[in-house]
Amino acid sequence: MKVQNRTIVVTGAGGGIGRALVLNLLERGAKVAAVDINATLLAETKEKAAKYAERLTTHLVDITNRAAVEASLEEIKAAHGAVDGLINNAGIIQPFVKIADLDYAAIERVMNINFYGMLYMTKTFLPELQSRLEGHIVNISSMGGFLPVPGQSVYGASKAAVKLFTEGLWAECMNTGVKVTIVFPGAIATNITVNSGVAIPGGATAENSSFKALDPNKAATIIVDAMEADKFRVCVGPDSRFLDFLYRLHPKFAAKFIAKQMAALLK
Ligand SMILES: NC(=O)c1ccc[n+]([C@@H]2O[C@H](COP(=O)([O-])OP(=O)(O)OC[C@H]3O[C@@H](n4cnc5c(N)ncnc54)[C@H](O)[C@@H]3O)[C@@H](O)[C@H]2O)c1
Repeated sequence: MKVQNRTIVVTGAGGGIGRALVLNLLERGAKVAAVDINATLLAETKEKAAKYAERLTTHLVDITNRAAVEASLEEIKAAHGAVDGLINNAGIIQPFVKIADLDYAAIERVMNINFYGMLYMTKTFLPELQSRLEGHIVNISSMGGFLPVPGQSVYGASKAAVKLFTEGLWAECMNTGVKVTIVFPGAIATNITVNSGVAIPGGATAENSSFKALDPNKAATIIVDAMEADKFRVCVGPDSRFLDFLYRLHPKFAAKFIAKQMAALLK
């Protein structure tokens, strides 16, 4: 769906990829409803998008709160008249620990934001998108949603749930005006670790990884291009594209390869 003159809701709009998505959509002439739980980050996004102020609204919403999500539909429709697109981008990672050491509170937090938050947004906004001639839902999974990353097993499970949910939704909407795209970013240079309240152990950094983390603005361009081209799926970054290929070729070899790469995180 071409985004010009369309109203698109973006969750996690105060963060790295979300903020870049907001700016990218505004540059392409879209109207944007920016959703985040963090008022400070949301205000920064608004400031950075000041020249497009008349096409941008911000909404302080915790996507794990179903009543708040449902209320945001009316708030956004009141501001923009209608909604044509939804990008479910908000997400967090888990602490870098093995499953045996991960407490239930952390597990529930990851599942609530990454899966249930995306679910509440999708179920709330889908009827509105179906009422339009054209609509589009983009869900942000992760390369960790198709490839097992030790120390991020529950995060991976939440993102695998996003993957299959989205592919099922694509099939259900196939012959309708609503298009659906699933996105698998590789490493993107954002503050997700800090924003998720997670410490990086073992001295692992983006610099000692085999792949350089991608600029969020580049990621946003790839994601909105995929949306405008009605793509079924898109891998964002050379790491995601390479590991997607490797995993399909030989899942066990790929699992060993990434376990070796990530070993420093679990020391
Ligand atoms: N950064 C990466 O390397 C990477 C890789 C693969 C996938 N992703 C995925 O991309 C998405 C965006 O990640 P990012 O790196 O930009 O992270 P980020 O931390 O920079 O941004 C995430 C935003 O989501 C918001 N958020 C968190 N919980 C929320 C809630 N309950 N309700 C509303 N908003 C909430 C945060 O306040 C933050 O502004 C996530 O789904 C993440 O899993 C990121």
